[in-house]
Amino acid sequence: MLNQNFNEKVVMHSSCLDTISSPCSGVKRTLLERSEDSEYAISTTLVDFEAGSFFDEHIHDSGEELFVLEGTFSDESGDYAAGTYIRNPHNTKHKPFSKEGCKLFVKLRQFNKMDNKKIIINTSDEAWLPGLVDGLSVMPLHNFEHENTALVKWKPNTRFTPHQHFGGEEIFVIQGTFYDEYGSYPKYTWLRSPHLSQHTPYTLDDGALIFVKTGHLLR
Ligand SMILES: [Fe+2]
Ligand SMILES: [Fe+2]
Repeated sequence: MLNQNFNEKVVMHSSCLDTISSPCSGVKRTLLERSEDSEYAISTTLVDFEAGSFFDEHIHDSGEELFVLEGTFSDESGDYAAGTYIRNPHNTKHKPFSKEGCKLFVKLRQFNKMDNKKIIINTSDEAWLPGLVDGLSVMPLHNFEHENTALVKWKPNTRFTPHQHFGGEEIFVIQGTFYDEYGSYPKYTWLRSPHLSQHTPYTLDDGALIFVKTGHLLR
């Protein structure tokens, strides 16, 4: 088990973590959270595909959510460049591969089973909406019941209002550095803040692009 106490704040600086092998050669993982040491775990990981590697065909029990961070990820349905957000619902299957190599942020087995919508969004082509304060832009990616997922772009030196996370908040930093009063979170840091936690986030000179999920951590 890794990071399965959802009442604790967790920060994982993925660039400081070891990668581990997967059942398929050329595909490596960096574990951020995992419910058990098996291929059937509920997990959040970074996955690196070497150029020319593939993963065995598999069924998504309770869904697979992913964001392409680098390179191009492919399966039999198409080729997905960096910046693509994909949701493969419960009971879908595929055989993924990457010709040039890629890096993915992947969440497995965390769908509400009623949430059966396949989603593919190339975020490079989508419009940004104004955020709640100057300097913030938001791109909604998915919502189902109390769970919301979005990209949030922070201009340099933007400060958000103090706020509380009802149902928790999970963030993966895609670009730049994200900050709050508890620390600094550079590119590829994952943080998970529990139900009713509070903070006041901000950016400094490099700004940030973050992947954010809220409302899904009431367990
Ligand atoms: Fe998959
Ligand atoms: Fe927050």
